[in-house]
Amino acid sequence: MQYRELGRTGWKVSEISFGCWAIGGSWGQVEDSESAAALHKAIELGVNFFDTADVYGDGRSERLLAKLRKEYGDKIHIATKAGRRLSPHTPEGYNRKNLTDFVERSIKNLDVEAVDLLQLHCPPVQVYYMPEVFGALDELVKAGKIRYYGVSVEKVEEALKAIEYEGVQTVQIIFNMFRQRPAELFFEQAKKRKVGILARVPLASGMLAGKLKKDTSFAADDHRNFNREGQAFDKGETFSGVDYETGLKAVEELKDICPKGISMVQFALRWILMNEAVTCAIPGVKRPAQAEQNFAASDFAPLSDEVMAKVRGIYDRHIRESVHHRW
Ligand SMILES: NC(=O)c1ccc[n+]([C@@H]2O[C@H](COP(=O)([O-])OP(=O)(O)OC[C@H]3O[C@@H](n4cnc5c(N)ncnc54)[C@H](OP(=O)(O)O)[C@@H]3O)[C@@H](O)[C@H]2O)c1
Repeated sequence: MQYRELGRTGWKVSEISFGCWAIGGSWGQVEDSESAAALHKAIELGVNFFDTADVYGDGRSERLLAKLRKEYGDKIHIATKAGRRLSPHTPEGYNRKNLTDFVERSIKNLDVEAVDLLQLHCPPVQVYYMPEVFGALDELVKAGKIRYYGVSVEKVEEALKAIEYEGVQTVQIIFNMFRQRPAELFFEQAKKRKVGILARVPLASGMLAGKLKKDTSFAADDHRNFNREGQAFDKGETFSGVDYETGLKAVEELKDICPKGISMVQFALRWILMNEAVTCAIPGVKRPAQAEQNFAASDFAPLSDEVMAKVRGIYDRHIRESVHHRW
């Protein structure tokens, strides 16, 4: 496992880190014993950074991480998120009182004195135009409740606005073979300001793993079933917003250019790491076998210019038209 510096935090985090949404909920049934085994396997493979949220399984994912934290202490860093407990999910909800309450709840779930990294959880766009929200986060840092803070965004424009706030250490954004726009302008700006980048949904919700078929079915409580059209949250979070069959077609072409000796998952993760502005990719992992495959991708050789150009070509032909301007 290779490590990269996360913003100005001074932490060196595993360039492939652990996305903990699926071990909380919304991805069909998961067993805590299997999730715990996947988390331990990840640590064995050098992973030291975990991304979760207070709403993943209503704290279930945070509580699983609390056990890990007890074992490994400060050797690991845990990023969580706040905001999605708000109902309705309004900009006004991102006030000092609510943010403090959310942080206190995460502190309890994670069983820590302070949250390592708190991210605003894809807030409404207006929040980026409310300096008082970032002021409240600065106060939480001063009060010792959070060490650092960042944002998780839907759109490139939100990311560009967010990094105008000095305290923002990290931006989490969808970046994968089906979502290439962040690399155009945002990455350069983030690099200039030494802002860390967490590349989320790196496998386009598992589609880039190359195992999905036209007739694959998903459990009723899996967002790949219930959020295809954005019924529950932003459409872009499910298969990166790419139409299912279009995605399958593009994946077939990606399979043809996947370098020998690596799997499609590793190809997709390696592609992300080719961009040095990215701090880490955070694939979702449910089982130890997935951990083994995903975290090994850090040690593979860089992709050739030729392969990179071909991936770009596949994106341009199949994906660009429906996603590029939207996120
Ligand atoms: N708004 C936000 O802030 C936000 C939104 C989305 C995600 N995130 C973060 O980003 C992380 C990653 O995104 P994601 O989990 O949505 O999507 P992802 O990483 O693109 O896809 C994860 C899914 O891919 C499949 N997979 C993983 N490893 C595999 C392997 N080796 N072989 C075959 N299939 C494999 C698994 O599903 P199956 O085994 O069920 O097929 C897994 O649940 C999340 O866990 C979360 O931490 C944040």
